[in-house]
Amino acid sequence: MKALFLVGGLGTRLRPLTDRMPKPMVPVMGKPLLERNMEALKLHGIREIVLSTCYRPEVIEQYFGNGSDFGLKIRYVCEESPLGTGGAIKNCEQYFDDTFLVFNADILSNINYSEMLRYHKRKKADVTIAVTQVENPSAYGVIEYDEDGYAYLFKEKPAPHEVVSHFINAGVYVFEPSVLWKIASGRPVSVEREVFPKLLEQGRKIAVYKGCNYWLDIGTPEKYIQAHRDGFEGRLHLPEINFHERAVYSASDPHISGTAVLRGPVCLGRNVRIEAGAAVGPNVVIGDNGQIGKKCKVANSILWNNVVLEDGAELSECIVTDGSTVEGASKLKHSIYTPDMIKSAKHLAV
Ligand code: GTP
Repeated sequence: MKALFLVGGLGTRLRPLTDRMPKPMVPVMGKPLLERNMEALKLHGIREIVLSTCYRPEVIEQYFGNGSDFGLKIRYVCEESPLGTGGAIKNCEQYFDDTFLVFNADILSNINYSEMLRYHKRKKADVTIAVTQVENPSAYGVIEYDEDGYAYLFKEKPAPHEVVSHFINAGVYVFEPSVLWKIASGRPVSVEREVFPKLLEQGRKIAVYKGCNYWLDIGTPEKYIQAHRDGFEGRLHLPEINFHERAVYSASDPHISGTAVLRGPVCLGRNVRIEAGAAVGPNVVIGDNGQIGKKCKVANSILWNNVVLEDGAELSECIVTDGSTVEGASKLKHSIYTPDMIKSAKHLAV
């Protein structure tokens, strides 16, 4: 069994977090989202992965290489210009001659992939789509389905008066390879807007899989923060971290001054230094090589790798991206900071 991750989107809604890296590489509790999703697949015995890249492909390739360091076999198919979700799947056709999984790579979920595959076979479907229930489906692709569990209508971003179903496309699919023939090649195609409705017109069977009780797409900064809130509060399962058992998780032995105070939940990457008198937590992530200067205060914030807070800096409800240095005595609140923004003394409210 192989899996295809669509990782080529521009991630415009998540800017500036995606200024230098594609959305699937954004760290979730210190680890790239894509790595978390690949680890979840491995638990179901799936080790052959195709990555459909386009925006900033080098960031992904440098991190994962051929996959051997991660116990995976990874192949890359890079688009010169974005082909859309359906076009990207078509573009990888050469790698799939049997039932395969397809993922939007910007989601976190607890879908049981083995169970979903069994369901797909049982329903004798051409495609199975995982769905999840949301209160307000107007920003999503809504799916209506019959009593036998087969889709009969797709509606993208319905207006409030058009909402009938609250089940939305969760961005995880099982595909039969025969479906690929039907997708136009060499031009952008949306799987949600074009491929699925066309398959219905042709009388193909699209089954709907509902076994998903945690689901979040991290497409916007608000959702990105929500993912961390869910991680800290235990709604999002993080295999290597359990804040109920250990309020301060650290990937390696950190250097923490005796007079620094840590209030969990706190997640520390490798090689973190926290100096005297600093107060860190609650709900804080400090990525690899993070340096927290003397008397700094950090709460409810996500710091990516190689972030330096100079002495006395205070951060609350901030996201600080790779390689940023926050000047001493700065007081930052409710904001996203990137190295470029810090240089130009700009920041973005979240
Ligand atoms: P926005 O620009 O904020 O809408 O984000 P996005 O470009 O990532 O689009 P969207 O959230 O709809 O994408 C869903 C998934 O499909 C993500 O994992 C994207 O990386 C991926 N994706 C979207 N468009 C393309 C594309 O043209 N090519 C490839 N290979 N992947 C895509």
